[in-house]
Amino acid sequence: MTPRMSRRGFLGVLGGAAAVAGLSACGAVGLDTPAGQTGETLTSAVPLPAPYTVPLPIPAVARPTGTLDGADLYEITQRAADVEILPGRRTAIWGYDGTFPGPTFETRSGRPVVVRHTNRLPVPTVAHLHGGHTPADSDGWPLDLVLPVGDSSNWAHSHNGTTMTGDLAAGVREHRYPMTQRAATLWYHDHRMDFTGPAVYRGLAGMHIVRDDAEDALGLPHGDRELPLVICDRAFDADAALSYPSLDRTLRTVPGVEDHWMPGVLGDVVLVNGAPWPVHDVDAARYRLRILNAANARRFVLALTVPGGPDMPFTQIGSDGGLLAAPQRLDSIAMAPGERFDVVVDFSAVPVGTEVTLVNTLGTGSTADVLRFRVVRTARDDSRVPDRLADDVTPLVPGPVMREFSFSRGAVGGTRGWTINDRSFDPNVSLADVPLGQVETWRFRTDVHHPVHVHLDQFQVLARDGRPPRPADAGWKDTVDVLPAEIVDVAVRFTQYAGRYVFHCHNLEHEDMAMMATIRTV
Ligand code: C2O
Ligand code: CU
Ligand code: CU
Repeated sequence: MTPRMSRRGFLGVLGGAAAVAGLSACGAVGLDTPAGQTGETLTSAVPLPAPYTVPLPIPAVARPTGTLDGADLYEITQRAADVEILPGRRTAIWGYDGTFPGPTFETRSGRPVVVRHTNRLPVPTVAHLHGGHTPADSDGWPLDLVLPVGDSSNWAHSHNGTTMTGDLAAGVREHRYPMTQRAATLWYHDHRMDFTGPAVYRGLAGMHIVRDDAEDALGLPHGDRELPLVICDRAFDADAALSYPSLDRTLRTVPGVEDHWMPGVLGDVVLVNGAPWPVHDVDAARYRLRILNAANARRFVLALTVPGGPDMPFTQIGSDGGLLAAPQRLDSIAMAPGERFDVVVDFSAVPVGTEVTLVNTLGTGSTADVLRFRVVRTARDDSRVPDRLADDVTPLVPGPVMREFSFSRGAVGGTRGWTINDRSFDPNVSLADVPLGQVETWRFRTDVHHPVHVHLDQFQVLARDGRPPRPADAGWKDTVDVLPAEIVDVAVRFTQYAGRYVFHCHNLEHEDMAMMATIRTV
């Protein structure tokens, strides 16, 4: 242990909890834990561009390469690439088809899809469709590794000296997505046990939009006026390489990060669709923004500022699992890692020439900036936001609390980590066997911030600390932003697919340091 680790180490987490709980953060611990975060900031060593100078990239849309057993077949190659993130500099990434973010999938409800992933990276990977209603063998179980093409090392038994096995695939795996789910903003990302944080940080994440006829009929903004916004934070070394404090930078054997960053890795550069603080020209018209917080650990509170005027509101139309029953106005949006907010913003409310800035009110300095819209022209707008959006957001009828899960720091093997009910992730032990079709009330308790994510099906938030949920908890959720020392009740209901799944904290450093649990649907 270095002196820095022993001085700070785990106390940093306690300091973070005290700071966000409004207690004094003075003293030797937690001084650089930003307010509203569980994480520590990495500072870039390379000169950074001025905000709002780089154009907003729009990720390419994935195209089917054929059909397979009646499904649209997509083929994705996971590979390393050098890309320009900071102007004029090259940064090595790992990407789906060598891009960061990966290509956006646009699929249709009821139309099955097969995604064939080929792994040309130097380590095994696992692809997970976050929010997908997916059979277990295609969900991306954290030990269902896709080994690198041509790699014959014995990865199955190399995990911490313990024998843990999944379904190993040599180089290629086909994921079957029946897409029997409503239109929604999903995303896909790496999910390898112990190494998800650094793999996603290097670029293995992309958006997956599911569309359906009911939503198409609403007349919401579309085409160039529908923007996927993948927001995350990163830090860069002096040579413009992505900086991440892995204990084992090869990502082959030793999981986890240096002690100081155990609470979570926060960067000082905000990327939208892989570009630092970009700028985008818009018509004076309504736009639909599908916002994803793809950060490892950073929470954002987003607002739209207008020079000399009041902030512009968001009209929220959807959340993780698709449309809300009805639109609602939000003045700001708090987003934990993994969450999606589907909003409409009306740029005709400001004069042409106005610069509307999406800011992060939780950030300071470079992390307060996110994205700027320049309203450059008047334009015709036939879009609308109907008062009624969806009829299938029926409240689940909850019973009494059936299961409680406590998310807290704790011992993981002989070392420090993050636990659920004092247990570290064990692929062989189910913390809950849940009958398909049954509505259950689950209670989540926390010490610090833990965004809790459940696979297979979306849930509904019932209560926070015994009080009604906040407006932004509305709709079908698969990730809930549980605040420090908070108790959140949710109604879960799994359908259709029996098998082994996980739920976990979506702070990826917490997830990698064992804050994940196995559940079985039966
Ligand atoms: Cu976004 Cu278990 O994942
Ligand atoms: Cu998921
Ligand atoms: Cu957590």
